[in-house]
Amino acid sequence: MTKKKYDFDEIIDRRNTSSEKWDFLKETFGYDDLLPLWVADMDFLSPPHVIDALVKRAKHGVYGYTVLTDSYYDSVIRWYERRYKWSIRKEWIVFTPGVIPAVDFAIRAFTSSGDRVIVQTPVYYPFFQAIESNGREVLENPLILKDGRYEMDFEDLEKKVKDPKARMLILCSPHNPVGRVWTRDELTRLGKICLSNEILVISDEIHSDIRYPGIIHTNFAAISKEFEKNSITCTSASKTFNLAGLQISNIIIPNDRLRQGFLSTIEKTGMDLPNSFAAIAVQTAYNECEEWLDQLLEYLKGNLEFLKYFIKTKMPEVKVIDPEGTYLVWLDFRKIESDPKKLQDLLLKEGKVSFNTGEVFRTGGAGFERVNIACPRATLNTALNRVAAALRNYRNGAFK
Ligand SMILES: Cc1ncc(COP(=O)(O)O)c(C=O)c1O
Repeated sequence: MTKKKYDFDEIIDRRNTSSEKWDFLKETFGYDDLLPLWVADMDFLSPPHVIDALVKRAKHGVYGYTVLTDSYYDSVIRWYERRYKWSIRKEWIVFTPGVIPAVDFAIRAFTSSGDRVIVQTPVYYPFFQAIESNGREVLENPLILKDGRYEMDFEDLEKKVKDPKARMLILCSPHNPVGRVWTRDELTRLGKICLSNEILVISDEIHSDIRYPGIIHTNFAAISKEFEKNSITCTSASKTFNLAGLQISNIIIPNDRLRQGFLSTIEKTGMDLPNSFAAIAVQTAYNECEEWLDQLLEYLKGNLEFLKYFIKTKMPEVKVIDPEGTYLVWLDFRKIESDPKKLQDLLLKEGKVSFNTGEVFRTGGAGFERVNIACPRATLNTALNRVAAALRNYRNGAFK
């Protein structure tokens, strides 16, 4: 391990930067004075190389229309080659201003009004909006929680794919919020079921770079030529290097027919060019910031251990669903309070912290909360102490 170079303990004041996480608390939760550990971005600086590259670009001063260059595509191709041994081609990569826009485009391109889209709940809630706002229906294939670990319910999936209106499955891989990094076997089983029932797989792999030691991520499309033809993979550097506000993602579509369908949907929206800063940030991050990422992962592992120890010793009624990937941790509060409204009230009013209430992730979410640990350890410590105090008061009946 190389010497620590980056200071993830530094507290950066994000207030008054139009930050969704820090500046929109009152609008979202009704209170201003909360410590926010919700929205999935990080309270850390992006890598110094990225900041320098953006400053240089900003100083150039002309911010005209921008296109993606060969050196940009090379940086993406080499990232997947180096870190995943997945060979992708330049022509497979499609720009979108985010993964959620990509999911939305795919729904519009490959399903029709009234069709059903399978999702594995509890799951990242903007999927529901992308499906329902386009007049499609959510078809749930709920995950099973077994001995503290989530698994896919393949028997149920076999039934759901046979629904005459089912067309597509949105795979969350790694899974937000339950933190599973699906194994090659699990993905193969899911992929075969989808293939033999003509269900297109949208594999959202936005969290794939964030994993804990010993955990391997398998790119769904890289498993077989058949899966490659029957899938769209959504990738991005935004979670990895904290670039979400720059709005760029790389959607990998090896199948020509699917890619053409996807592109023609994008054309209708006019969202086909990135802003002047996005590509520079991604290219710099992929080419020059692997050491930063390694140290980030080390720090996140430390935060996860800290959280687990804190909860075990100070609030053992809360169960931690140990994540294999993502910086989001799914906490089971059901022994304390299983009514999601009461639980959220307790955390907001008494704890003065904002986590994501599990309810919005739908089936299986009530009584859980999602906490974002991508923050300085001191922030995490403050938040956990506040929650522990709130739970003590709750037990003693001091909070009604
Ligand atoms: C699973 C998943 N997909 C997509 C997104 C959002 O992606 P984007 O900001 O690129 O639209 C997130 C953000 O939290 C996420 O967790």
